[in-house]
Amino acid sequence: MQINKPTDITNTKEWKKLQKHFSTISKGLSKNLSLRELFNKNPNRAKEFSYSVGDLYIDLSKNLITDETVGLLTNLAEKCDLKSAIHSQFFGDHINVTEDRAVLHTALRRKDTDILEVDGQNVVADVREVLFKMYEFADKVRSGEWSGITGKKIQTVVNIGIGGSDLGPVMVYEALKPYADAGIAARFVSNIDPSDFYEKTSDLDPETTLFIICSKTFTTLETLTNARIAKKWLLDKLNAKGITDNAESVRKHFVAVSTALDLVSEFGIDPKNAFGFWNWVGGRYSVDSAVGLSLALTLGPRNFENFLSGFRDVDNYFYNTDLKENVVVIMAMLNIWYVNFFGAATHAVLPYCQYLHRFPAYLQQLTMESNGKSVRWDSSPVLTDTGEVFWGEAGTNGQHAFYQLIHQGTRLIPTDFIAVANPPHPIKDDVDGKQKDVHELFLANFFAQTKALAFGKTADEVRAEGTSEKIVPARVFAGNRPSTSIMSAELTPAFVGNLIALYEQITFVQGIIWGVDSFDQWGVELGKQLALQIEPAISSDNDALQTQDSSTQNLINFYRQNRK
Ligand code: F6P
Repeated sequence: MQINKPTDITNTKEWKKLQKHFSTISKGLSKNLSLRELFNKNPNRAKEFSYSVGDLYIDLSKNLITDETVGLLTNLAEKCDLKSAIHSQFFGDHINVTEDRAVLHTALRRKDTDILEVDGQNVVADVREVLFKMYEFADKVRSGEWSGITGKKIQTVVNIGIGGSDLGPVMVYEALKPYADAGIAARFVSNIDPSDFYEKTSDLDPETTLFIICSKTFTTLETLTNARIAKKWLLDKLNAKGITDNAESVRKHFVAVSTALDLVSEFGIDPKNAFGFWNWVGGRYSVDSAVGLSLALTLGPRNFENFLSGFRDVDNYFYNTDLKENVVVIMAMLNIWYVNFFGAATHAVLPYCQYLHRFPAYLQQLTMESNGKSVRWDSSPVLTDTGEVFWGEAGTNGQHAFYQLIHQGTRLIPTDFIAVANPPHPIKDDVDGKQKDVHELFLANFFAQTKALAFGKTADEVRAEGTSEKIVPARVFAGNRPSTSIMSAELTPAFVGNLIALYEQITFVQGIIWGVDSFDQWGVELGKQLALQIEPAISSDNDALQTQDSSTQNLINFYRQNRK
C-alpha cells in the first residue's frame, strides 16, 4: 500500500487556527507570552508538561506553549493523518515513495517472538538470524577464539564506512565506551581524505586489527577506496613480516556489512564473514542493524540487546500513545511550531554528557538528510519551510563558544538539553578542604542554562546589582528562549537506544506534516556524479580535459600550480 496524498497544511483550518493563536501570543521574540508569567500563574506547569518514555524524563515546560498550543498543534497532526502514517511506517507500506520502499527500521528492534510479514516473509525472523550470526561472531572475537592470522587476539576493530555506515556506530561507541569490556577498541575511518586512514591506522598492529567494511550499497566511493587502501596496508605489513598467505590474511582480518552481498564477495571478502541487512533500512536509520557490528564486538551482545530494547520502548510508546499525550509527537510538533510560525532556522542539541559528544553530528544526518527537501512525496512543491539546521556541542564547551548568541542574539533558537543523573566515572574535587562532586557542578550548569534562557534577567534586576545605567541594556536577558530538558538516571545502552528512537520518530513526524519523503536523499547525488566527472581533469595534465565552468577551472588550476 502507498501512503496517502500529502495534506496541504497551509490550507487547513487547523493551520489557520495556529496562525491566529501565534499572533495572539507572540511576535518573534517579543513577549505577549511570558514564561515567567506562565510559571507564576501555574505552579504545576513543570509537572503538567513533563513526560516519561523509556528511561527518558522529558520536560517541555520551558517551551513557548500553553495547553491550547499543544491542542492546536496535535489537531494539525491529526489532520495530516499521522496515526495512519505511523501505522504505515510500522507495517511496511512503501512510505519511501521515490525509492518505492518500505521503511522498517522499527523491525530491527522488535521482540524476537514478534511476527511481521512483508511480501510474505517474516522480517523479524530474518533480523534475528543476522543478529544471532553477529553475536556468535562477536563472542568468538571477544574471547579470542577468532584471532588474527598469527593467532593473536584482535585488539582493534576499524569500521570503514561513511554517512549512516559511520555516524551511528561512532556516536554510539563514543557514548557507551564505559561498556567496552573485552579489551577491544574501535576506530572509524570515513573520509576519503588520505589523512583520515593514516591517522586512524598508523599506530596499529596489523596482526591484531580487524577491518569492518560497512556499506549498505557497497558502491560508495569513499568506503571502497578506503577498503582497498586498508587491504593494501594489511597485506604490505604482513608480507613484510613474512606472512604471505594473502587470501587467509583477508579472511581473518576483513569482514563486511552490506545489503549487497554479491559485491562483498567480488571485493574478496568471504560471504561467510559478511553480515547482511535489507533495502528497507535507510542508511541513517541503520545503527541497530548489522551496521552496529563494531558495537556488538566492542560492547558485547548483551549490551547490544539492551541498546535495542531502548529503541523498542520508545517505538512501543510512540505507536500506542494517543497523539495528544504523545511526547514524541509533541516534540515534533514543537519543531513545526518554531520553524513555521516563529521562523526558527536552526535547532541546537546540547548534551551535558561528554560521552554524547558525537550526538549532534549524528543527528545532523538523521534530521537534515531526511527533511532537507523542497518537494513533497507526490512531487509537488512544499508549502512551507522544511528541515531546520541541527547543530550543537557538548556542554559546557558550548557555553564558552556560542551560547552568547542563544541568550542575547536576535534569532530564536530552540534548544534540547540532555543530561544523565549519574556519571559513569564520578570525581570529587577538593576545594578548601571540602569535597565537591564535579558532576553536580556540571549539572548545575545544565539547570542554570535553561533557567536563564527561559526567565532571563530584567533591567530592574540588573540595576539592583548596582550596574551603572549606561550598560544596563547590555546586561539584560530577554528570556522566553525555548528549551526542552531531557534527563535519564544513567548512561546505559537502553538510554542511548531511547534517544536515537526518539529523534528518529520526531524526524518522521515532521516529514509527515511537511509532506516530504524523509527516507530518500537525492540531494547528495549531484555532487557525487560531478566529482567522478571532475577527477580525471584534476589528475591529468591533458588540457583537453579542462572543460569546467570558469570558477571550477580556476580552482583546479590553483591546485595544479601548487601540487608537488
Ligand atoms: O550520503 C549519501 C548516502 O547514501 C547516505 O544516505 C548513506 O548513509 C551514505 O551515503 C553511505 O552509503 P553506503 O552505506 O551505501 O556506503
